Amino acid sequence: MSASMVRATVRAVSKRRILPTRAALTLTPAAVNQVRMLLQDKPEYTSIDSIPFARYPLRKWNCIAITNTPGKPRNKRNPSSNLTKSTSERHIPTMEQKTIINFGAGPAKLPQSVLCQAQKELVNYGGLGISVLEMSHRSADFSKILSKTESLLRELLNIPDNYKVMFLQGGGSGQFSAVPLNLIGLKEDKCADYIVTGTWSEKAAKEAEKYGKVNVVHPKLDSYTKIPEPCTWNLNPAASYVYYCSNETVHGVEYNFVPETNGVVLVSDMSSNFLSRPVDVSKYGLIFAGAQKNVGCAGVTVVIVREDLIGHTLNECPVVFDYKVQASNNSLYNTPPVFSIYIMGLVLEWIHNNGGTAAMETLNKQKSSMIYDIISSSSGFYVCPVDEACRSRMNVPFRVGKKEGDEALEKKFLEGASQRGMIGLKGHRSVGGMRASLYNAVTVEDAEALATYMKDFLKEHQ
Ligand SMILES: Cc1ncc(COP(=O)(O)O)c(C=O)c1O
Repeated sequence: MSASMVRATVRAVSKRRILPTRAALTLTPAAVNQVRMLLQDKPEYTSIDSIPFARYPLRKWNCIAITNTPGKPRNKRNPSSNLTKSTSERHIPTMEQKTIINFGAGPAKLPQSVLCQAQKELVNYGGLGISVLEMSHRSADFSKILSKTESLLRELLNIPDNYKVMFLQGGGSGQFSAVPLNLIGLKEDKCADYIVTGTWSEKAAKEAEKYGKVNVVHPKLDSYTKIPEPCTWNLNPAASYVYYCSNETVHGVEYNFVPETNGVVLVSDMSSNFLSRPVDVSKYGLIFAGAQKNVGCAGVTVVIVREDLIGHTLNECPVVFDYKVQASNNSLYNTPPVFSIYIMGLVLEWIHNNGGTAAMETLNKQKSSMIYDIISSSSGFYVCPVDEACRSRMNVPFRVGKKEGDEALEKKFLEGASQRGMIGLKGHRSVGGMRASLYNAVTVEDAEALATYMKDFLKEHQ
């Protein structure tokens, strides 16, 4: 399904009161899905033209624009093919038109102003006559984009001068390998401590086992719904580093404290809560984060590493993951993901203009409390399995109907949400239920819309 707007011609509604003759409906992707489902569910509607749109309230269809411009005649053999058009024919949403609320866990919602600026600059960046997509990574113009992105990041996180910032490919998963390949050799024993509180730290620990000894510092958890008490952690002073994931995206477990490692280098995967709150970088040896949740689109992963930790790389480390090589080449050893870095720069600018990490934290607290409060006061209709002390502000997992989720109600909940233009609420396939991701770009109004829907749904089904 295309994420762009599409235009569907609806001649059949011409006799109806709501739409003008030969009107063209511009539908959001969710509405297009509804059209498709309707065509499947109701055999009496044999094509788009036969759907009596007026029978359905326009809001329900997420109709975002009605114009008098007729669309192209539909393809008679395959009516729904009219719903996917070539790029040049797609209707591009403007700021005012976008009505979908994306609660997806990632790739996730981007600030609307960032999308619009990227759209504006796509074909002709800064009057250069070419797109960033076509720009040499060694050109002076890209160099400006790269250094602006880095300095914004340094400013937003107050990154000390003795830290290098790199923009790498390979995603968070690439760093599951790169971290041990670069750091496990810091000490002779080649071992590392891992705190495993969810899917992502579990995967990271498993990957690290390929390169050295991995010590999970606590007994294996039955379920990923809590952080074991730090006083029970069995930390090894000879470990090269201690690793944890500060926000477990799948399970919704977030640390509200920085683990104490008694001097051992601390490494954190901050992929899903990066820049959602202030962080004291000086407490860390290394922080990494994939961009596609809070700071941009997929394709680039930020690595912030203390300089003295660079240069202990294992021989088998692929050169593109070697921090010494990438840091000394300013992330340009090989072609970096230029467009993803450019988008990240725009998002960082947006965070900067909106008050920085402190302001993001205030809003993220507000949005997540709104949803957790409804869960807590729902008398068990909504259930969040995560311990209150470590509930994530970014990813709110919950079941509907009962503790283990009522399958029929959860299906209904998702359908109702989709009718209100809310997408991306289905929980990760490994845990089921719902998950509302409330990253920086998700507004308070977006969270309020979800809260209102949750209250309405509760009233109707409790
Ligand atoms: C916390 C965390 N770490 C790592 C990853 C893996 O990232 P990627 O898919 O970019 O490899 C994810 C993906 O969602 C994540 O949420």
